Amino acid sequence: MNFFGWRSCCALLLAVLCAAPLAAGKAFGDSHHFALSVQRAKADPRGAFAEWAAHFGRGYAAGSDEFEARLGVWLHTLRHVLAAPLADAMVPVNGFADLGDDEFRAAYLGQVTPEDDEGNVALGGTVGKRKAEKYRYEHVQPPAAVDWRPKEIIGPVKDQHVNGSACGCCWAFATIGTAECMVAMATGKVLSLSEQQLIDCDRGPPLYDLGCDGGNFEGGILYISENGIDLESDYPYLAKDSVCRRASGKKKEGRRAAALDGFGDIPRANETALMQAVSQHPSTVAVCCGPFIEAWRNYTGGIFDIAGATVPGGCTRPLDHALVAVGYGTTAQGQGFWVLKNSWGAHWGDRGFMYVPRNTGGKGACGLAAAPGYAIKKGVNAEGDALIDAATWSKPDPSAALTMSRAERLSLGSARAAITPAL
Ligand SMILES: *[C@@H]1O[C@H](CO)[C@@H](O)[C@H](O)[C@H]1NC(C)=O
Ligand SMILES: *[C@@H]1O[C@H](CO)[C@@H](O)[C@H](O)[C@H]1NC(C)=O
Ligand SMILES: *[C@@H]1O[C@H](CO)[C@@H](O)[C@H](O)[C@H]1NC(C)=O
Repeated sequence: MNFFGWRSCCALLLAVLCAAPLAAGKAFGDSHHFALSVQRAKADPRGAFAEWAAHFGRGYAAGSDEFEARLGVWLHTLRHVLAAPLADAMVPVNGFADLGDDEFRAAYLGQVTPEDDEGNVALGGTVGKRKAEKYRYEHVQPPAAVDWRPKEIIGPVKDQHVNGSACGCCWAFATIGTAECMVAMATGKVLSLSEQQLIDCDRGPPLYDLGCDGGNFEGGILYISENGIDLESDYPYLAKDSVCRRASGKKKEGRRAAALDGFGDIPRANETALMQAVSQHPSTVAVCCGPFIEAWRNYTGGIFDIAGATVPGGCTRPLDHALVAVGYGTTAQGQGFWVLKNSWGAHWGDRGFMYVPRNTGGKGACGLAAAPGYAIKKGVNAEGDALIDAATWSKPDPSAALTMSRAERLSLGSARAAITPAL
């Protein structure tokens, strides 16, 4: 896991970042995947599956119904690989190969981005009394390449799907991923902050945010701006909806670890504007996994250049997943790419990160330029950052019941969707 140490690095962060283009082999090679021998898998698929399952701690008993069912899905996922004439090849396989597309979609996505009939995003602007700030980087000259990963500001790669629990809360992970970077840039401390607080507490009208049923990072960032956010260790991730254990409002009790100061929209369908923002700090993007869910699911590195998925209009809606853009650059072969941080664990992609084509025009590859935004942090907030008072804090109770039924929460969501275009 890439949990970087604490370090005061504001001066460094203010310096213009300018990196040489990445050498493709070096940048895209590393992984925590399972290396599958294609020859072995062809000769003994059950044995190869059992090894893969052991590698990822699945614990399926050999010969059980579950083993057989998962083996079937796994072989289906790998069908392209097993059908190819690659006698001796070793191919990387991540830990999602035994999940079906629908199962994966329910557990791993969850961005809710309201759109009108033309696919124009209807967020941005006002959420209750909250307002998105006007874009602040229009005069920035973005450098040719930026990568925030070596700068010791990015929090740990996390996994929104733990212990077999389905939670469509990518929006909370994208929010927290961005918040962790902004807090580290302002305070020099890389903290791991609480997604579960957003899942439990950032709910109902006028927000979109519906815990494990989906949400929007704009609402999440605005929630943190109003309420602060706790440490992951104080308010740990449960991968399910639970009761909010935080009173709202900045002055309420709790071990509030960090604060933000608002949300900014990035001009849409404008990758230059996205470069400007990402050159200043990591930013959030909503993407479309849509019909390309299998390619997302089994991604193990390299530029995600799936035919159809990355051309503007190929898959730009609905925007159903959210990630953090932590860099961009150009390969030695001249292909532009974005670097995105995902919330699907470190075994997925390149240690949890992915590379997506850049400068494809329109709404960008996978729609990533359709509705990007960023968190605003004006500096260290004496009231909000690291205001940790252990005496007033009680640990969440993981066994607590839901406050609202799923149907109630979904109907709140559609009420919100119906009013948004008028905002
Ligand atoms: C993209 O945004 C920048 C400012 O951030 C602006 O100067 C430029 O004109 C925009 N491009 C388009 C095509 O709108
Ligand atoms: C997952 O399971 C492990 C082992 O039982 C447990 O320690 C951990 O707290 C669980 N995590 C969640 C989020 O439920
Ligand atoms: C992943 O999915 C893509 C698109 O469906 C396919 O071409 C590729 O072979 C798959 N890779 C693996 C390892 O299953």
